Amino acid sequence: MPHLIAPSVLAANFGQLDHAIEMLNQSATDWIHVDVMDGRFVPNISFGFPVLHAIQKVAQKPLDVHLMIEHPELYIEQFRAGGAEIITVHYEACPHLHRTLQQIKACGAKAGVALNPHTPVSFLSEVIQDIDVVCLMSVNPGFGGQKFIPHTYQKIKELKTMIQEKGSACLIEIDGGVNLENAPLLLSAGADVLVAGSFVFNSPNPVQTISDLKQLSF
Ligand code: DX5
Ligand code: ZN
Repeated sequence: MPHLIAPSVLAANFGQLDHAIEMLNQSATDWIHVDVMDGRFVPNISFGFPVLHAIQKVAQKPLDVHLMIEHPELYIEQFRAGGAEIITVHYEACPHLHRTLQQIKACGAKAGVALNPHTPVSFLSEVIQDIDVVCLMSVNPGFGGQKFIPHTYQKIKELKTMIQEKGSACLIEIDGGVNLENAPLLLSAGADVLVAGSFVFNSPNPVQTISDLKQLSF
């Protein structure tokens, strides 16, 4: 399968959010990555349902909603109603992860689990068959524009081995500090989906940057 590119709208100009989404519609974007932060699970607040609905109205690509919130189980159906096709919860925020994954699937979304940089991949071994996407955080969640943590390469390899051993069809998504330098290495380590926020939106030509990320061979 060719790899997927998921630009994060967190780095877009929110004053002209429609323009940003229309740009993504016209680009090689596969998924639109939407970062929701609650000021509790992470030390930052991004946006909630009204902004998600504004994105949904314009977006012509699947919305990949990354919930950096406590008690995500309280809001799964509302995020689905807001157009989320992939709903990703944090391992660290879900004491009943298996139940939360079933809840996500029951409302018709694909189920994602994100791991903070310090959380071992092995913690997912008992649920890997129930997960559609594992999102490996390559920065500490909460902010765009941070520096990529190189230990991520090792985690991708471990996760890939686990997925193959368990016969799972789960995708590996990398989120944080992705750019054209590390992307080929991430892909050759086994990544399937690359999230990129500031690298895309701060570039002089975001459509070209997305295309460059999409066309990488490795
Ligand atoms: C970080 C978010 C990321 C972030 C990525 O908490 O989950 O999705 O927007 O932004 P960059 O690519 O700038 O690291
Ligand atoms: Zn994210």
